[in-house]
Amino acid sequence: MDNEIQESLARFTERYTNGQVPWDDSLPPPEVQALVATLPPGRALDLGCGYGRTAIYLAQHGWQVDAIDFVPQAIAEAEKRAMAAGVAPKIQFHVGSVADLDFLEGKYDLAVDVGCMHAIGHELQQKYRDGLLRLLQTGAPYLLFARLEEPEPNPNGEEDRFSGLAEADVLSLFSQFSLQGTEFGETSGSDYRWRSGWFWYKR
Ligand SMILES: C[S@@+](CC[C@H](N)C(=O)[O-])C[C@H]1O[C@@H](n2cnc3c(N)ncnc32)[C@H](O)[C@@H]1O
Repeated sequence: MDNEIQESLARFTERYTNGQVPWDDSLPPPEVQALVATLPPGRALDLGCGYGRTAIYLAQHGWQVDAIDFVPQAIAEAEKRAMAAGVAPKIQFHVGSVADLDFLEGKYDLAVDVGCMHAIGHELQQKYRDGLLRLLQTGAPYLLFARLEEPEPNPNGEEDRFSGLAEADVLSLFSQFSLQGTEFGETSGSDYRWRSGWFWYKR
């Protein structure tokens, strides 16, 4: 595992260990639910699945899901939740990096990433993108929610890759996909507030 992934894994592991998991909710965001409502079930990818709220929702709506996260304890909890929801047979959980999807085979009809891709640097983003290009059927939707760069430099002095993506970089990264829509806003919790964006793509 390369250094960048190791550092990022340590940060996320600490968050899960300390219960700093503000994205822990029983349902995926409304944007995910609305997209799922328009699609016939098929095979889906949940990238950076955390406790599995999107994977479980998809499975409850008839999808067969591969869900990936690099934090083993997040995956262990996601498996318990899938079991409790009665959808465990429909979800294959994987401990692994979203920047290395070589272990997955066949074609997928949907990919969803709620808040994962912005946590990796540019080189790994390209590997992530190449994985999606290989795995998604032509025309399959890919929904991305990401933290976006602030107009002003980050006052906390955080490292660049944790400070959000430039919109132009997202558009350039996924230039081989067809952009269907975007929505920009602000995401906040008790101790954070950042710019964010939804990107609706088709492969
Ligand atoms: C903001 S959380 C969102 C979790 C989940 N998508 C949700 O909406 O509940 C981001 C997740 O991405 C995972 N993650 C970050 N970088 C990753 C990587 N390189 N490979 C796999 N998972 C990663 C983290 O462990 C974390 O669970």
